[in-house]
Amino acid sequence: MTKSENIVWHDSKVTQEHRMKLNGHKSAVLWFTGLSGAGKSTVSVEVEKELYNLGVHTYRLDGDNVRHGLNNNLGFSAEDRAENIRRVGEVAKLMSDAGLLTLTAFISPYREDRDKVREIMNEGEFIEVFVKCDLDVCESRDPKGLYKKARAGEIKGFTGIDDPYEEPNNPELVIETDKNSLEECVQQVVKHLKDKGYLEV
Ligand SMILES: Nc1ncnc2c1ncn2[C@@H]1O[C@H](COP(=O)(O)OP(=O)(O)OP(=O)(O)O)[C@@H](O)[C@H]1O
Ligand SMILES: [Mg+2]
Repeated sequence: MTKSENIVWHDSKVTQEHRMKLNGHKSAVLWFTGLSGAGKSTVSVEVEKELYNLGVHTYRLDGDNVRHGLNNNLGFSAEDRAENIRRVGEVAKLMSDAGLLTLTAFISPYREDRDKVREIMNEGEFIEVFVKCDLDVCESRDPKGLYKKARAGEIKGFTGIDDPYEEPNNPELVIETDKNSLEECVQQVVKHLKDKGYLEV
């Protein structure tokens, strides 16, 4: 849905395919979704380091980081969360188009918002990674002290407390951070990329 008329797409001569060939690996979007404290940021940071060591060109988009800049005009209402994810999806698509193995770490609690991002990607370009972790465990970790604030009523509409988290129906990958170590979770993601041929052209 575009607001403006009279806009015409102008193709590049250098395409995503060319960039993949130049880089020696495929580009895609590894979309980490899950509750706050589930481990999206922690796992994605480690996966990116592993990929870097394997010679893969990457970039990581993280929820809080993006809300400092690009999305600093958005809050946590359902509309703003949807717009947050829409913009991040578009940026991730651009990055993937630029040849990068892009990692995103957003709670992205609504299935519809995630599915809309999937729809704008090419076949096989969107890899949804459900970072699964019991709410109790996330709350006991509480790395940012946010659950404590939410329970005290200082944060309204907090995912898992007074706002829903809709689990993915068909994610490409599920990692269980309350059952497996960080290292195991990281290896599962890297293995998936290797097995599915993303790390070669
Ligand atoms: N197997 C594991 N995988 C990932 N993180 C783990 C694991 N076991 C324990 N942790 C801990 O869980 C916490 C996860 O916090 P992290 O900030 O990565 O969550 P997040 O999903 O990015 O949350 P938010 O949505 O609030 O940004 C960290 O303190 C991390 O050390
Ligand atoms: Mg995070």
